[in-house]
Amino acid sequence: MNIAVLGAQWGDEGKGKIVDLLTPSFEVVARYQGGHNAGHTVYVNGKKFVLHLIPSGILHPGVTCVIGNGVVVDPQALFKEVDTLKELGVEVGDRLVISNKAHLILPYHRELDVLSEARRGDRKIGTTSRGIGPAYEDKIGRRGVRVGDLAETSSETTLVDAIRANVEARNHLIKDSKMDWQKVLDDLREAWKRLKPWVKDVSLYLDQARRAGKSTMYEGAQGTLLDIDHGTYPYVTSSNATIGGVCTGLGVGAGAINGVLGVAKAYSTRVGEGPFPTELNDAIGQRLRDTGMEFGASTGRPRRCGWYDAVAVRYAVRVNGIDALALTKLDVLDGLEEIKICTSYSCNGASMQELPSDLGQLAACQPVYESIEGWTEPTKSVRRFADLPAGARRYIARLEEVTGVPAGIVSTGSDRDDTIVRDDSVVARWFARD
Ligand code: GDP
Ligand code: IMO
Ligand code: MG
Repeated sequence: MNIAVLGAQWGDEGKGKIVDLLTPSFEVVARYQGGHNAGHTVYVNGKKFVLHLIPSGILHPGVTCVIGNGVVVDPQALFKEVDTLKELGVEVGDRLVISNKAHLILPYHRELDVLSEARRGDRKIGTTSRGIGPAYEDKIGRRGVRVGDLAETSSETTLVDAIRANVEARNHLIKDSKMDWQKVLDDLREAWKRLKPWVKDVSLYLDQARRAGKSTMYEGAQGTLLDIDHGTYPYVTSSNATIGGVCTGLGVGAGAINGVLGVAKAYSTRVGEGPFPTELNDAIGQRLRDTGMEFGASTGRPRRCGWYDAVAVRYAVRVNGIDALALTKLDVLDGLEEIKICTSYSCNGASMQELPSDLGQLAACQPVYESIEGWTEPTKSVRRFADLPAGARRYIARLEEVTGVPAGIVSTGSDRDDTIVRDDSVVARWFARD
């Protein structure tokens, strides 16, 4: 079975934890989009790992991790991550495969990201300043530099020409910028020495793995509402976090995806700017942030918090063809007297069941809530569904009704073991061993 695991909200749903948890059922874990804007936190026996570019399967020895062509790669960020993992006792070694078609994030992309945000002023996106957007702009503008170009084997265009042309063009664009293209080139040539052993044709690699009977998990970064096409544009990231990104970002066919697991928190968060209908700017929002430790894994920014938005998750279910949800951070709601679920929006007096694509309309939407009684007994670290308090089970059942898909996994803490995989769910069937 090849399964995709992707975010059903605005990112930070706990994808890293779920990917790590499921990795023992796979030989390969492959990232298909995004870059080191992602921050995937995994706790194993109390030890904290934060993955940015490398798939969260890396913590399991023997698993190969793939960075697809849909990902944008900053070589220095990658090396830093490999080195940090080593310090923590995780050897990446030859378990990494990087697509020769993945585009590079270069130093001027970071500068352009910061400048573009400054230019937008009040309308800034709130990016992670990692150069993600400008790197994808160059890719789509057909002037990007790909990992494979660093081999300098192409007679078509030389790396020297490409770097010189790109750096000089940026120096014209950015006031007072005097970036030295030769230094950029030298750094890339140096980086290539370390990258080279990992670089392959990823589409071919994954096909061969599949033919050899190996299973692959496709790991998403960000979330459906941050998708460049299906998210709350322009307050989105610059890649396809949704299911189509698996095919384009790895070079696999639709038949190579056998199931889609969406990851959603038991409430909502968003980091960065943009509409967020269920946002709570009150004591409850603060309570969710404090208890859920809602601070960005990459940038440390406080995350905006609010109630579960079933309109948004239902939308994610439709756009991605989600078969089941992994419901995370249920424990964060422990002790709340009342919990709310947004089941529709009210927009200028009209009731809306679907997420509007017009940003202005979405910004004008008021959440329509139904109220659920909370529970007093803790769900924290509960590992059997039957052991959850009745109130928590009622909440999960209602979320399943309003989103139309089962919660195959329920997460009750940040540790790998604080998880319930429900026996009777499609998820358990995916992983049933004959
Ligand atoms: P990702 O980007 O989707 O991988 O999510 P992040 O790692 O950015 O954010 C999720 C945060 O929630 C991390 O700090 C996780 O350790 C933590 N987490 C994941 N699942 C649970 C859970 O069930 N309960 C609690 N309390 N924390 C969780
Ligand atoms: P993971 O994989 C949450 C947000 C940024 C900003 C917008 C665009 O950990 O879920 P970018 O730097 O990508 O151009 O920023 O997207 N963003 C994320 N929010 N989780 C992420 O990744 C994110 N990656 C980017 O905050 O609003
Ligand atoms: Mg994250």
